[in-house]
Amino acid sequence: MRGTIHYCLEETIISKYGKEKWSECLTSMGLPASHSFASQIIDDIDEDLTLKFILNVPSILNCTLQQVFDDFGEYWCCIYAPKLYNMFYVGVENTKQMVLKLSSIHHTVAKVRQGATPPQFNYKEISSNELEISYISERNLFDLYLSLVKGLDKYFSNETKIEKTSDNSAILTFSH
Ligand code: HEM
Repeated sequence: MRGTIHYCLEETIISKYGKEKWSECLTSMGLPASHSFASQIIDDIDEDLTLKFILNVPSILNCTLQQVFDDFGEYWCCIYAPKLYNMFYVGVENTKQMVLKLSSIHHTVAKVRQGATPPQFNYKEISSNELEISYISERNLFDLYLSLVKGLDKYFSNETKIEKTSDNSAILTFSH
């Protein structure tokens, strides 16, 4: 997985839980306490290590994995992506528009360098403000996807109703 995910997780944890907790996350996985992913944003980082790392974080922060996903989703959508990938926000006015743009965004980032295998999405329009979305990725991080939708809501001050219909699908009812 692209190191940009790791670096955003690093910034998320440092901003909410402090640098010491971040160092603990690193050392518990055998990485040096002073390590930073800042210089590895476009690197492809080993999948197994990445997933183990993410799954290990809640035990260090003493919280649930869902909480880590929610923290990450909010930080990514409200702070990290607007700073690093602001071009993708241009002309986008609400959560629904960004959700519909995600396939093209991920396609674009995957093209920049080989090795990225970002998630793909299928959409079925149920009504003008309701979408059934299916998440396609071998990483099974659909709960992270849903936390990112919540992060978009924070950014756009929207309130999307999320109804999970399976391990990789949900009905999203948009407020805008
Ligand atoms: C400007 C906005 C965004 C950019 C530039 C972006 C870019 C990326 C990149 C580079 C990865 C790593 C892919 C890889 O290494 O294979 C990724 C992963 C991911 N992205 Fe995004 N992303 C954006 C917004 C979002 C949003 C808003 C959502 C969901 C609502 C989302 C859902 C995901 C998920 C769930 C993953 C984890 C990988 C997986 O499930 O396979 N992304 N994204």
